[in-house]
Amino acid sequence: MRGVVLAGGLGTRLHPLTKVTNKHLLPVYDRPMIYYPLETLVEAGVDDVLLVTGGNKAGDFLQLLGNGKELGLKRLSYTYQQGEGGIADALALAEDFADGSPIAVILGDNVIEKSIAGPVARFREQGRGAKILIKEVHDPQRFGVPTLDGSRVTRIDEKPARPASPYAVTGIYMYDATVFDIIRTLTPSRRGELEITDVNNAYIARNELTWEVLDGWWTDAGTFESLHAASNLVAAMRAARKAAANQR
Ligand code: G1P
Repeated sequence: MRGVVLAGGLGTRLHPLTKVTNKHLLPVYDRPMIYYPLETLVEAGVDDVLLVTGGNKAGDFLQLLGNGKELGLKRLSYTYQQGEGGIADALALAEDFADGSPIAVILGDNVIEKSIAGPVARFREQGRGAKILIKEVHDPQRFGVPTLDGSRVTRIDEKPARPASPYAVTGIYMYDATVFDIIRTLTPSRRGELEITDVNNAYIARNELTWEVLDGWWTDAGTFESLHAASNLVAAMRAARKAAANQR
């Protein structure tokens, strides 16, 4: 499976940190933010990746990541999202790269603790449709929120004032190649963007969306609070791993 990392946007919620640089180049504890989603894909065996960037300092990604070898990538491709069209608009740029294959998509500001190798393998077996990963959070109104009915997700609401569940739809998605046809049918939301939530709702309408609860902690890093939390979580994780290694 190929991978797509979406790292565009102007990061306005982080001004002035993002006034002269790209949000995904900001530090999360000891590494630039963009390292984390790339490492998540590589660890799951997804090592042919397209990075979609946009906004400020796009050239810095090339300087930082080069051909991706240092991070364990077999191939790292780049493209540029013009303007602020949203996550689904950025994903549309991956159509030629995907070349009819299924893709694992991760938002460039999503930082997680554990492996997604299990869900990726299960999506391979699923063969078609889509899979989302959800996680219980204390502030679901900041995210896409699923309505769960037994083992089914019946709808997803983007940043609802009254969340239907305590879960956030994380920024880790797996899609078959029909995702690009779905994106072509979308119209901009109230915030003027093509929403990834509308893509996922289209798969729900076709009865082709599966979901799993993500293992380990998850955070985005797009606000001051979450950026700070991400650094703290990574620091604690590194300390715990070091302590465990010393005990061996
Ligand atoms: C985006 C998605 C949202 C999802 C979140 C995960 O939100 O629109 O559905 O829950 O990423 O990080 P945004 O970062 O654009 O506010």
